[in-house]
Amino acid sequence: MKVITVTAQKGGAGKTTLARNLAIAAAQDGQRVLLIDLDPQKSLRRWWEAREGDAPAMLDSDPPPGRLRATVDAARERFDLLLIDTPPATPAWLGDVLAVADLALAPVRPSPDDLRAIGGTLGALRAARTPFAFILTQAPRAKITDETARVLAGHGRVAPVNMAQRVSYAESAATGQGVTEGSDGRASQEVRDLWSYVKGVME
Ligand SMILES: Nc1ncnc2c1ncn2[C@@H]1O[C@H](COP(=O)(O)OP(=O)(O)OP(=O)(O)O)[C@@H](O)[C@H]1O
Ligand SMILES: [Mg+2]
Repeated sequence: MKVITVTAQKGGAGKTTLARNLAIAAAQDGQRVLLIDLDPQKSLRRWWEAREGDAPAMLDSDPPPGRLRATVDAARERFDLLLIDTPPATPAWLGDVLAVADLALAPVRPSPDDLRAIGGTLGALRAARTPFAFILTQAPRAKITDETARVLAGHGRVAPVNMAQRVSYAESAATGQGVTEGSDGRASQEVRDLWSYVKGVME
């Protein structure tokens, strides 16, 4: 089982949207996927509760961060991929959550404010020595997106696929779906491409 932790100290960066869409794309690719929501806001779990069907899976309740390792070990035989969503913060336990991950994904919106806020996340990623990639989210087709990617590339790997700013991401949040299950072909394609990239990085 591979483990991915989604992390960004900045609120609203797109962590939960990334986690759920990637989880569905991976499930559609034949992987047995488990989601764990470590954010007390429980956005990921609420979305999942609105969802019909049982893949990707969630546990009856999410483990407290201190019990995560035992939960991960217990899940190893039953799942191919575990995706962990985290709160917009760098709590003391984040290091342990990054340590169990094969890969961390850090969504960043292309804006100077978001770029200035990556320090905390970057510090946690470096301290945990977890391989990581930045993913540009809510990205317009504009110079600021290219510029943000260029700056991020100075700090680490940047996914070659962006998640664009699209209404379908917000809409699918209400219905418990992912964009790869909906009618927005471009959103669907970018999430599938992102999943291919992420899968490749973990091999
Ligand atoms: N690519 C996108 N296009 C359009 N809207 C998006 C996109 N990604 C996220 N959003 C919207 O932006 C808001 C924040 O996204 P999301 O909840 O995924 O961020 P988050 O980092 O998990 O937030 P928090 O820090 O509160 O946990 C949500 O309303 C979501 O629907
Ligand atoms: Mg969230």
